[in-house]
This record gives sequence, C-alpha cells and structure tokens, in this order.
Amino acid sequence: MGDTMATQRVYVQVKDLKKHYGDGDARLTVLDGIDTSINRGEICVMLGPSGSGKSTFLNLIGGLEDADAGSILVDGCDLTTLKAGDLGEYRRRELGFVFQFYNLVPDLTIKENIEVTAHLSKNPLNVDDLLRSLGLYEHRNKFPRQVSGGQQQRCAIGRALVKNPGLLLCDEPTGALDYKTSKEILQLMEDVNRTYGCTIIIVTHNAAIARMANRVLRLRDGRIVEDELNESPVAAAELDW
Ligand SMILES: Nc1ncnc2c1ncn2[C@@H]1O[C@H](COP(=O)(O)OP(=O)(O)O)[C@@H](O)[C@H]1O
Ligand SMILES: [Mg+2]
Repeated sequence: MGDTMATQRVYVQVKDLKKHYGDGDARLTVLDGIDTSINRGEICVMLGPSGSGKSTFLNLIGGLEDADAGSILVDGCDLTTLKAGDLGEYRRRELGFVFQFYNLVPDLTIKENIEVTAHLSKNPLNVDDLLRSLGLYEHRNKFPRQVSGGQQQRCAIGRALVKNPGLLLCDEPTGALDYKTSKEILQLMEDVNRTYGCTIIIVTHNAAIARMANRVLRLRDGRIVEDELNESPVAAAELDW
C-alpha cells in the first residue's frame, strides 16, 4: 500500500499529548506524552486501571478539555488549534459520546431523548429505523425510569448515533451493566461499527473487551505501553469474563 493511502486511512492521530491537573505539590501528570494513530472504521479499545487517565484521554479527543501540549488530529484537523466555536461545531458534527451513566433526560421519552440530538445534525439517521435496530421501538414512548439499565444505555447509544457521527467515544459503556447486558451492548457496538462504518474508541478497565478490538491500547502511568493491532478480533458474542 502506498503512503498516500496509508495516510488517508488514519482518522485520529495523537502526537506527544500531555495533560496535568493541579499545581505545586498537588501537580498530577495524567497524560505524559501519548502517541498513537487510529484508522478509519476501527474499533479501538483502550485498557488501563482506574485513575490511569482513560477518561482524560477521551475527553481531550472529544474536545471537552484542553491539552497542555501535543496535537490531536481528527480527519486531518488539529483540535488543539481550533477556536471554541469551531470545537463546538466539531463536537456536533463529528462526535457521539457514550458514558457509563446514561445521562438521559428523565422528563423526555426514549424517542425524544434520541430526537434531541437528531436536530443537531445535517444528516441524521431516521429515528424510527434506529429505534428498531436498537430494539427500543416498542419502548419508544416510555420514560427512562420505566426501562432497564441496558435499555437506557441502548437509548444513550442511539442518542450518540442518530447524528451519524464519524467517531463514537465510549467511556466505560458497560461499567454499570451486568454480564449478559454488557455483552448485548458490545454486540450492538459491533453492529453499529459494521452498519454505519463509524470509528469507535472504547475505554474500559475490563481487559476481556480488548479481544473484540481491531486495535488495543494499554495505558499506564500516563503513557501507552502497548499499541497493538489485533488481526483476528473475536465477535462480541464470544467474549467471556
Ligand atoms: N478535573 C480534574 N481535576 C483534578 N484531577 C483530576 C481531574 N480529572 C481527573 N483527575 C485525576 O486524573 C487521574 C486520571 O483520571 P481519569 O482520566 O478519570 O482516569 P480513568 O478514567 O482511567 O479512571 C486521576 O488520578 C484523577 O483523580
Ligand atoms: Mg474514567
């Protein structure tokens, strides 16, 4: 493969990314020079123990926090040089976020929670079609408190996906779910990756999830200690822990 094609495949490129919190005695270096590239269409799983900086990494890629140093190129555009307005536009246009706790709006129905973000996009997916593929169509008129945790997370994934984002960032997406539901959610992410072609970054402390990834990043003490391509990812349904 030629250089040009190799370059085009790279979707997220992070160079010497640094981030600290606090000052003086309380200074804490969280990311200490992160370098990695993630290709378009990949499922990338970042592993690391609690407190290793996974959420910070995701928040920087999501433009929710500022880096101290380094660059973050998404589709060739360096986020660290964007003005606030352009960063907002990047988040609206390019990104979907999924969190451990679903952050649904309690007074809106399942369908309405998804419709809210559909309005942010110029080319949203059809909400009813999406509800069907999420297995939520029959529950569309219920409120979040009337459905299970797994269904709430499906709704949160739908809210992120309805914009048809290029990049889906997932922070411990199964952290609050039981084994069976976790696997269903991971299967859904696998489907979504296949169907919509979006690049997915999942951060988790559950090492078993790495087996379904195309790329595995391991974070320790603010550095990537392992960056590996997985030639034969396992289907999410086959994962076990
Ligand atoms: N806003 C903040 N202010 C101060 N320290 C923070 C802040 N956010 C995270 N940290 C600290 O940075 C470290 C990494 O946090 P985080 O990125 O949340 O790790 P992980 O997601 O891997 O558990 C932790 O020690 C955490 O306490
Ligand atoms: Mg975290």
